Amino acid sequence: MSAAWETVRPPQNDAAMAQRGNGSPLGVKIAPSLLSADFSKIREQIELVERAGADYLHLDVMDGRFVPNITWGPKIIKDLRKLTKLPFDTHLMIVEPERYVADFAQAGADIITVHWEATVHANRLIHQIKELGVRAGLSLNPATPLNVLDDILPYIDLLLIMSVNPGFGGQSYIPTSTAKLASARELIDRRRCAVELEVDGGVHLDNVAEVARTGVDTIVMGAGIFATAQPGETLVRVRALCAP
Ligand code: DX5
Ligand code: ZN
Repeated sequence: MSAAWETVRPPQNDAAMAQRGNGSPLGVKIAPSLLSADFSKIREQIELVERAGADYLHLDVMDGRFVPNITWGPKIIKDLRKLTKLPFDTHLMIVEPERYVADFAQAGADIITVHWEATVHANRLIHQIKELGVRAGLSLNPATPLNVLDDILPYIDLLLIMSVNPGFGGQSYIPTSTAKLASARELIDRRRCAVELEVDGGVHLDNVAEVARTGVDTIVMGAGIFATAQPGETLVRVRALCAP
């Protein structure tokens, strides 16, 4: 007996590619990461970035095993779901993600991104996520080359390129990430895949324009927004710097 997805053909993405871009009328999507937000006033922090035009909320789930830090699980995400209608871009930095994806979908995640390095069955896991009715993302650590995507690219909805080693907010952008992002853009376009390209880590006002020029669709920003004095105003400035 085989699971339904095992007979599914790779999606034909010409229609989606014809309208390439990130679907946002504002150009590059901005996904503030709550990792750097102040949880003692989380409602207010979310309202600030929502009013300023955030496209997603990026939620970093860490287990102290895949990465050396611990954040939150489905219960917190379920509670946050009551505070906003913004799509939840859920980034799982956990071992054995297949055990938990259903819980995160049920908690209100709209995108569930898992790490290529955290599973030996990426194809099965991507289909498992899609069957939950949410978008499926795959993330690559800085040291993982793009060629691991050869056989999985047509099946994923989102590719998350880590531009820091995952685990903490406020780290420095790894400079080689810019060339990697440009290569990922070229790969996605050449293979005509409807994959959203996202970057995560170390993006601030002073390098966001460089990052946007790689053709990335979505930029995650944690400290770059929430560690600034006026997160909402910073987001508006980021948007202007990313304008084509
Ligand atoms: C890091 C997380 C990031 C983090 C980025 O492991 O995946 O989403 O919030 O934070 P900054 O933008 O501060 O590097
Ligand atoms: Zn993240």
